[in-house]
Amino acid sequence: MTLKMPPHSSIFLVQLLAISCLSAQIEAQLKVGFYNQSCKSAERIVNEEVSKGFMTDKGVAPGLVRLHFHDCFVRGCDGSVLIDSTSSNTAEKDSPANNPSLRGFEIIDNAKTRLETECKGVVSCADILAFAARDSVAITGGPTYDVPGGRRDGRVSLASEVLRDIPAPSLNVDQLTQSFANKKLTQEEMVTLSGAHTIGRTHCTSINNRLYNFNRTNGGDPTLDSKYAGQLQQQCPQGSTDSSLVVPMNPNSPLVTDVGYYQDILANRGLFTSDQTLLTNNNTASEVNQNAGSQLLWMRKFAAAMVKMGQIDVVTGTTGEIRINCRVIN
Ligand code: HEM
Ligand SMILES: *[C@@H]1O[C@H](CO)[C@@H](O)[C@H](O)[C@H]1NC(C)=O
Ligand SMILES: *[C@@H]1O[C@H](CO)[C@@H](O)[C@H](O)[C@H]1NC(C)=O
Ligand SMILES: *[C@@H]1O[C@H](CO)[C@@H](O)[C@H](O)[C@H]1NC(C)=O
Repeated sequence: MTLKMPPHSSIFLVQLLAISCLSAQIEAQLKVGFYNQSCKSAERIVNEEVSKGFMTDKGVAPGLVRLHFHDCFVRGCDGSVLIDSTSSNTAEKDSPANNPSLRGFEIIDNAKTRLETECKGVVSCADILAFAARDSVAITGGPTYDVPGGRRDGRVSLASEVLRDIPAPSLNVDQLTQSFANKKLTQEEMVTLSGAHTIGRTHCTSINNRLYNFNRTNGGDPTLDSKYAGQLQQQCPQGSTDSSLVVPMNPNSPLVTDVGYYQDILANRGLFTSDQTLLTNNNTASEVNQNAGSQLLWMRKFAAAMVKMGQIDVVTGTTGEIRINCRVIN
């Protein structure tokens, strides 16, 4: 025997490694009430900041729901969408898919400032955003649901990754299905989550393709109700250079999380190609029909799908960091 280590030791090491990998996997699970001990006011403080922000600007609710989606689809729900660009890096938030349309960043900052005072270095920006999106759904009349916490913040944010991962409003149903499948979400979850378009607004630039790229005397995409197309053309004049022009989604109740989105689609009043296209496939069309007729069913599915979306590629355990300022990596 020339070896000093007993022959079993390498096997033992492999076993140890396997056990620690297993426990890392268990650790990777997010938990409801993650801050119960470490920062028990965490979720309350986020909720207060969302409510306060919503009182001055109702747009923060749709803003935060979309912000969470855009965080999760690019590099997972790691708060990377919150990071500011620097002289040496163009961050996600400055991709054309995000700037100038994303909003709600100040609410995250306000919550983070209070949480750093209350429990320094404990609550991640990614969790704050997930809680804030949940509270935004609730404050607009949508379902309430528990959000598992324990996400850690990423240290990388690249504008160049955004257009690859965030679906464009021009996509058809197969492309949307693929985009969500890339994030391990099903086609039904795609239809369910698209219901978030029952609140908020869109910039005219996201619908101009449907208003002007077609040959019809009264204008517009033939799958868009022509009366509605006419109204939208008034609000979004062709060739306007005003990039701040916006129109409401679900104009009957743009501040209420209800099934108005699905009813709009059935009336050919889906705003984006990616909304109206859901009628072109039997499965998605049948889900649109079901959701339009059952608020309870959709709300249940939406809450579950939001929780699932909130777990995409999360960073947990000891990797990543708890950012001190959500806009800047530590
Ligand atoms: C299915 C693919 C999707 C596409 C193609 C899409 C596209 C868009 C576009 C183009 C806008 C307008 C942004 C603007 O110009 O201001 C928008 C707004 C919005 N999206 Fe989506 N989206 C999708 C899925 C989702 C999902 C999954 C959610 C959340 C669960 C979501 C939540 C929202 C909200 C709340 C707004 C309104 C934002 C505001 O008022 O500031 N979207 N979306
Ligand atoms: C935190 O407390 C809530 C409510 O008492 C409980 O449901 C949850 O399981 C707790 N979570 C943890 C991780 O302790
Ligand atoms: C409109 O129709 C004309 C003549 O048929 C054609 O040349 C043009 O490409 C069409 N434009 C669009 C946007 O389809
Ligand atoms: C979709 O439904 C229509 C009408 O029910 C049917 O004719 C068609 O074959 C279906 N298509 C697919 C791909 O299942």
